Amino acid sequence: MSFFDFYVPGAPKEIWNVPMAGATRFNWDYDDGRDRLLNLYQKGKDKQWDAQKRIDWDLEVDPDNAAGLPDEFNPLLGSRVWDRMTERERVEFTRHQGSWLFSQFLHGEQGALNVSARIVESAPDLDSKFYAATQTMDEARHVELYTRFLREKVGMYYPINQDLAKLLAESLEDSRWDLPYLGMQVLIEGLALAAFGLFRDVSTNPLVKQLLAYVMQDEARHVAFGRLALKDYYAQLTTAERAEREEFVVEGCYLLRDRFKGREVYEQLGLPLDECMEFVDNSEMYRLYQSLLFSRVVPCVKDVGLWGERVQAAYTDMGILDNAKGDLEALMRQDEDIAEAVDRERYEAELGARRQEVDDAISLGADSGSGPATGSGSGPATGSGSGSGSGGGPDRAANP
Ligand SMILES: [Fe+2]
Ligand SMILES: [Fe+2]
Repeated sequence: MSFFDFYVPGAPKEIWNVPMAGATRFNWDYDDGRDRLLNLYQKGKDKQWDAQKRIDWDLEVDPDNAAGLPDEFNPLLGSRVWDRMTERERVEFTRHQGSWLFSQFLHGEQGALNVSARIVESAPDLDSKFYAATQTMDEARHVELYTRFLREKVGMYYPINQDLAKLLAESLEDSRWDLPYLGMQVLIEGLALAAFGLFRDVSTNPLVKQLLAYVMQDEARHVAFGRLALKDYYAQLTTAERAEREEFVVEGCYLLRDRFKGREVYEQLGLPLDECMEFVDNSEMYRLYQSLLFSRVVPCVKDVGLWGERVQAAYTDMGILDNAKGDLEALMRQDEDIAEAVDRERYEAELGARRQEVDDAISLGADSGSGPATGSGSGPATGSGSGSGSGGGPDRAANP
């Protein structure tokens, strides 16, 4: 069986070649480095983890609702299309919807993997190269875990959304070294981070929550990297040079806005495309969703200094200008705290289960009249709690 049998019919099999442009830059000043970037690099090294060990892959996922979403998050709920569907068609739709969503996360991660490797090559500063190297490892891990999630838990992949592909290609094809940063680190990652956060917070499935919380712990650093590197650079540009970047931002944000409408699912299932798109466009839930999706992008664009009239007018048109007030530092701290809280909860649950095993063994020993279990030989875990979380437990050794 070929891997492509897991894709929906009609998915392309060929390698997608995006031409390279621009220089590979060597910097001989090995002393060069901005404290904040080097601190971020240190954090990137300290917080490495293993997707195979840290995530509890034994947890079950309903393949017909992979994201574990409550009904009210169904984009077609309340539409005539939905009312006309049979129960079987509805189940099929939510299965495709989950596959499509996580497939876009997966392809976006592969984009991030390629772009961060590209930044290692093209950035002129050594501190940026260092940080991008840790990000490249993070992104490989993210590709690995979304692939495994889709393969084992859903069994179906969707091809990349064309709006996402276009923005990725535009970010990579440009010879200016800052464009991959702007397209990937600020726009694509910013939007992905908000989407991950939303699904992390509303999903009812513990595996999905774990997966997203841990990925977000890394992504928060990636967005911070884009901000730090670009803020310094954009402050030195001329007004005309900044205007070019603002134009890129405006076009990129419109592409991203269309990315999350789920057009490919309606097409794949032969649903009436115009009717579905019109319903989604006008639904209150989608408007809210869209505004939430840009909650990380807008304050970041403002922070790096691309806050000219055109950008503000586009954000007003899209109804997302209010997001400019968002506090990115606070959100990043929150993302880290949530990932650590997930680890803590799992550690405590594991400890509780071990204590229970010991208590059970002791009472079993007392009942049989042979005295308490000695804990030697075939006894259960000693209950010291110092086990390294083998099996499904959090990979605490790698995450102090
Ligand atoms: Fe990522
Ligand atoms: Fe990332």
